[in-house]
Amino acid sequence: MSDMLKYPRLTDLEKKAKRRIPPFMFAYLDAGTGRDFAKDANEAAYREISLTPQFLRGRVAADTSTTLLGKVYGAPFGVAPIGLSSTIWPGAEQILARAAKAHNFPYALSTVAGDSIERVSKVGGDITWFQLYPPADRDMCLDMMRRARECGVDTLVVTADVPAPSRRERMRLSGGPVGSRGKSMYTPRVIMQSMSRPEWALRLLANGGPRFRNIEPYSDKFGGMGVTEFIGSQLNGGLDWDYLDIIRDRWPGKLLLKGILHGQDAERAARAGVDGLVISNHGGISSDAALAPIDVLPSVVREVGDRMTVIVDSGFRRGSDILKGLALGADSVIVGRATLYGVSAGGEPGATRALEILHAEIRRTMGVMGLTSVADITRDHVVLPRELPL
Ligand code: FNR
Repeated sequence: MSDMLKYPRLTDLEKKAKRRIPPFMFAYLDAGTGRDFAKDANEAAYREISLTPQFLRGRVAADTSTTLLGKVYGAPFGVAPIGLSSTIWPGAEQILARAAKAHNFPYALSTVAGDSIERVSKVGGDITWFQLYPPADRDMCLDMMRRARECGVDTLVVTADVPAPSRRERMRLSGGPVGSRGKSMYTPRVIMQSMSRPEWALRLLANGGPRFRNIEPYSDKFGGMGVTEFIGSQLNGGLDWDYLDIIRDRWPGKLLLKGILHGQDAERAARAGVDGLVISNHGGISSDAALAPIDVLPSVVREVGDRMTVIVDSGFRRGSDILKGLALGADSVIVGRATLYGVSAGGEPGATRALEILHAEIRRTMGVMGLTSVADITRDHVVLPRELPL
């Protein structure tokens, strides 16, 4: 029996994760940006949305399987891309890919993950998606797309919402390395905090320290910069609609555009031939004034829902939150921090536990709502306090 069964809720895994990784690393995972308003608002938004059950349908056995982008998955949620996952918990990418594969949930590997698409897709197989931050160097972009394709990846997630770096204040205050030019990442505070979490530190050392295995093959382009500085120089602000056209033209599989919050951008993306959107505010990391994605979801669905797949993320912490997203028109949800809380709390059993907690909550909520299948969840099952026109 897994030791992780002692942790009945995601919040219990979160607390355990906090004890197992250094404070600066927990802050990297957990913090929003600025005053954290957007991160807090993402989570608070679900309080104000209610689900309306329907009864007298006999015995209800909920089937959570979901068709998304032409493929059947085990549940209407997947694992969102998280950069530096292997620095949060060494080996996190392969752990998450294996756990997601076992449940037939999608897992999106970040461009700036610690592990490479070659290694992770071997573990995750057909549930592996690749998230692309289109770099300024377009040859490098096309080469990363080629690599993903050669690994059998069908779904490419292009992230649009980091046109400029944000300032994650809580992370800075926690003493974490901020990658300033020329300065060592290994400040006394980083060393002290790392030593206070010896299991994490030893695992990270065994992993070769912080790695960026998707980017490392391009070291001939670094031009004397370190890998973090190179990433900073490449990944902020290069994407525009023309660049997206090139990506669309060259990617034969399914293409998702992540980070959309505006109806006009959604409409423009539909015209660009994108297969789907991820309505997201990056978990409240880009701007502390950003809208909660769940609040804009209905208007985006109204705008493009008949033409495109619509996925939503940011702030999902419960199965009932996920059902609210589906009732408001999303085809699926992706979950970021919650999955890394699981990995950091307990490696693979912890990752599995996080996924199973969410999955069981979806099943339970569907049951008490009188819903037997995901396709039966409709707008009639939800009541909103407000809806923003965009
Ligand atoms: C992210 N996110 C993100 N998104 C992306 O497209 N590429 C990336 O490399 C990252 N990296 C990343 C790191 C950390 C620490 C966080 C918290 C988030 C955003 C992520 O995919 C997703 O949109 C949010 O995490 C969703 O919000 P929740 O579920 O964390 O509330």
